[in-house]
Amino acid sequence: MFDKAIYVTQPTLAPLEEYVELLKGIWTSGILTHNGPLVQQFEKDIAVKLGINNFIAVTNGTIALQMSIKALELKGEIITTPFTWIATVSAIKWEGCTPVFCDIESDTLNIDPAKIEMLINERTVAIMPVHVFGNPCNIESIEAIAKKYNLKIIYDAAHAIGSTYNGKSILEYGDISATSLHATKLLNTGEGGGCISSNLEIHEKLKRIRFFGHNKDKSVIEDGFNGKMTEIHAALGLVNIKYFEKVLEDRKYKYNLYKESFRKISELKFQKIVNGNSNYSYFPVIFETEENALKYEKILNNNNIYPRRYFYPSVNTYSNIFDNIQSCPVSEKISKTILCMPLYYKLTESEIESIINIENII
Ligand SMILES: Cc1ncc(COP(=O)(O)O)c(C=O)c1O
Repeated sequence: MFDKAIYVTQPTLAPLEEYVELLKGIWTSGILTHNGPLVQQFEKDIAVKLGINNFIAVTNGTIALQMSIKALELKGEIITTPFTWIATVSAIKWEGCTPVFCDIESDTLNIDPAKIEMLINERTVAIMPVHVFGNPCNIESIEAIAKKYNLKIIYDAAHAIGSTYNGKSILEYGDISATSLHATKLLNTGEGGGCISSNLEIHEKLKRIRFFGHNKDKSVIEDGFNGKMTEIHAALGLVNIKYFEKVLEDRKYKYNLYKESFRKISELKFQKIVNGNSNYSYFPVIFETEENALKYEKILNNNNIYPRRYFYPSVNTYSNIFDNIQSCPVSEKISKTILCMPLYYKLTESEIESIINIENII
């Protein structure tokens, strides 16, 4: 039994003094927002760190998804995954499009490319896959389908900063990738997000959308809104990013600690990583039955440990949000049988060992 509660995650934070130094600069300059110097520096630092070209820092990952839909001027059906956080789908709905759910692969937990084509019709305009828990999707197959039917791709890369595919940052794929810099992510600005597009026209358009639709002369030439990141959030990103490699390395090490122990339990299944490299942002375990998952959750809770049923429920089953419930049996089963274990930078190796050593896993 732990004296203090162990939750599924905790933010990774650079030393406070480093943040305070940057805050002093903000107090001196009086610049709090409007794409100030720290936001601009943060965008440059992320681009260099990840080896990407165009990072646009925004308010949060949900706005990043909405801006992406807006920038591509999508109107119609967007095929997406039900095994995600509600934000993927609320972004689609808020932009006036209709989500169409494509079931997932039971091993990678990502959208199943073999099931996408049967959902395409004349109203389909785009595919919005999610790199679930940082695990890269089967990009090659998704791109082939998009090309065949002339569809746009927006990757929901909320979990995936630091993941790679074919030796490149995962954020370089799709017409646009949208990521999150929320407190729980491997790199965080408290709240925050980013849009990445290698198409320069789209990149410029995203920047205008972020800033009320203004062009460089401050004329409103676009149906934009306010997606700006503040200097205070950018400052946090600037100090946290210095530790990013360390955080990535730490996450992989701890992920493997869990995996080595849990693989001895034949009941459990793990997320399969077959396309590129994951950032290992979460450690999910999948039980054979919901009853067993709940039983194990209870045992951990009794020891002051709080794993998370994530994602639960499967988003396609929200009957208060969708008029038309679409069945996705694989996602529904996984949602009921999955638990994400505590995994974060400050979690110590001995804490992980104590968690692993708690008996009666099923
Ligand atoms: C898959 C997925 N998409 C989108 C989001 C939205 O990101 P944010 O919380 O930064 O708005 C999240 C949030 O964690 C997420 O998990």
